[in-house]
Amino acid sequence: MNRNMSALTHIPVLVEETVKALAVQPGGRYIDCTLGGGGHAAAILERSSPGGQLLGIDADPAAVRVAGECLQDYGDSILLINDNFVNLQAICLRYDFQPVHGILFDLGLSSLQLAEGGRGFSFQEEGPLDMRLSPEQEITAADIVNQSSEGELADIIRRYGEEGFSRQIARRIVQERPIETTLKLAKVVEQAIGGRKGKIHPATKTFQALRIAVNHELENLESALAQAVSLLGFGGRLVVISYHSLEDRAVKQFMRQESRHCICPIGTPSCVCGHSASLRLVSRRVITPSAPEIKANPRSRSAKLRVAERIVFQDSSAEATERLCFSLADSASGWRSPVLLERLRLTFLAS
Ligand SMILES: C[S@@+](CC[C@H](N)C(=O)[O-])C[C@H]1O[C@@H](n2cnc3c(N)ncnc32)[C@H](O)[C@@H]1O
Repeated sequence: MNRNMSALTHIPVLVEETVKALAVQPGGRYIDCTLGGGGHAAAILERSSPGGQLLGIDADPAAVRVAGECLQDYGDSILLINDNFVNLQAICLRYDFQPVHGILFDLGLSSLQLAEGGRGFSFQEEGPLDMRLSPEQEITAADIVNQSSEGELADIIRRYGEEGFSRQIARRIVQERPIETTLKLAKVVEQAIGGRKGKIHPATKTFQALRIAVNHELENLESALAQAVSLLGFGGRLVVISYHSLEDRAVKQFMRQESRHCICPIGTPSCVCGHSASLRLVSRRVITPSAPEIKANPRSRSAKLRVAERIVFQDSSAEATERLCFSLADSASGWRSPVLLERLRLTFLAS
């Protein structure tokens, strides 16, 4: 088996930048929506000690097992859940874990998942065309590849892979079906495009597209981001690390929209949308890894971190505001920053 060291462990990306962006404080309450190997979670727990709490979520049961082993020393400070982050709000409700000081999404796959041939994520490792994050999902990449029409396949590959040769690839796939394994699909894509061009493997975009389709990645991300905002306490931080342009665009658009008081189309004479900002962009600039980090961990090269801060209550009914204010002030771990608590009280009194 050809596995290098970085494939055997997942090296977390932009760790210092993440902890800083989340403004991690002792006694704070955090959610890591993409636990993976637990690297970011460990850094958050270190900085939020004493008294910090972390809810870790991952759709992949194997990731939750691995992270659980890595984080076992944190005992009662952690709660690890095997679920999809599309269920974020329901999970927090079930475990009474809200409001929180910070929420992290470190999107995509871990090196462990990529290295595991049996999962079908990599075009370099032989394996079944699976690509499901969780074995409980019904549809696999093989189902999509072998059962979709040529038009549907071309659409998936163009939309989620931003692949210019989507129609040629779809035609070739349909000619070569059934395709059950990763290496066979990689070969078919390579043939459709006419061999290798440049440094990037020709199957890169097709594999990305299938993974996004199998796991409903963009729909789930959009839904989870909106849920995350409603779980953040006043001044709480939302941090997202993305690895490809479709994800980053979705995050950027979401944060921009939620940081605007009016989202009426340009030219509307007076505001009719009724929208109000729920986030403030902490940094307009996207944060990327330094040259030394990219050298030490080449997988980090495409990472983009965006951060925003919760500014008002989305549900501003007096009852909801009171609940939020009460639970922040009285939570066991506490909302330790007196400045934030004061600002929260002022908001409560003003509403
Ligand atoms: C890049 S890794 C996270 C690595 C982690 N931050 C660390 O420090 O080790 C992404 C993780 O998110 C998980 N994931 C991706 N989409 C998910 C979703 N919709 N719900 C829950 N987990 C998801 C993957 O299973 C994977 O383990």
